[in-house]
Amino acid sequence: MQTFTNVKELGNLQAAVKEALEIKKNRFAYKSLGENKTLLMVFFNSSLRTRLSTQKAAMNLGMNTIVLDVNQGAWRLETERGVVMDGDKSEHLLEAIPVMGCYCDIIGVRSFARFESKADDYSENILQQFIRYSGRPVFSMEGATTHPLQAFADLITIEEYKTQARPKVVLSWAPHPKALPQAVPNSFADFMNEADVDFVITHPEGYELDPQFVRGAKIEYNQEKAFIGADFIYAKNWSAFADVHYGQILSRDRSWTVDTDKMNLTNQAKFMHCLPVRRNMIVTDDVIESPQSIVIPEAANREIACEMILKRMLESLE
Ligand code: CP
Repeated sequence: MQTFTNVKELGNLQAAVKEALEIKKNRFAYKSLGENKTLLMVFFNSSLRTRLSTQKAAMNLGMNTIVLDVNQGAWRLETERGVVMDGDKSEHLLEAIPVMGCYCDIIGVRSFARFESKADDYSENILQQFIRYSGRPVFSMEGATTHPLQAFADLITIEEYKTQARPKVVLSWAPHPKALPQAVPNSFADFMNEADVDFVITHPEGYELDPQFVRGAKIEYNQEKAFIGADFIYAKNWSAFADVHYGQILSRDRSWTVDTDKMNLTNQAKFMHCLPVRRNMIVTDDVIESPQSIVIPEAANREIACEMILKRMLESLE
């Protein structure tokens, strides 16, 4: 495995989930695979879960890890080619990336949407430059438009908690005070569309996601109707995708907050969220603290999802 940015790169999805669940039974089984191999984690943006779970996954495999917070202690990086570098940016990404590749065997990159240009964000400019110029296998630790490690962990969690062969999984928009990228819902849709689930997306009008991720998913603009009979509720905020409103907040409607009344419409659904979550905006205290909430085991599976990706990348180095 050379890159991990989307569901297709996993190959057979059922086999990938099975492999991950096997790793979970003994997460130190491949301890020798990463001996004398180094993972470089490059963060252009903040993180709690991704930072810790990725480092832990690498350690499970016997790897060394280096963490670079680009905005804390590194030279300020220019990312656009052709710029006259007479400002405050001292180094260009086009030198920095191959240099980083000299010091490691695998690279993980986190680089969020900037909301300056939809075309720039959806070109995944920074992640793609790492893929092209580092000379190393590269995986996304959340890019501008996708978060595949999160979605893989989400699918593993659904597999563990489902009570029927083909569960109904609902991705629900919920309000948030800040404009958030579409990366998490994009990847969740990307994975759910390939999984054996009945997948429904519910959001206010105007919050339609990129069709390349939505594909054949059912869209339901009535949130309560969408929740009826659901086995999993996956709440998430995202900003508008459509050209004219790209990256904007179109609604702060708190009637979309996931509360107990709405969860009572479901088939005793499990509540999921990638975290961090804004309580009483996205979800009420009562729901996230209820036995139906599986946000903590979901976060725990980030370690397993990442370990499987790193294992496949290490195997491809040999
Ligand atoms: N879910 C997730 O990626 O969390 P962090 O932003 O804390 O890494």
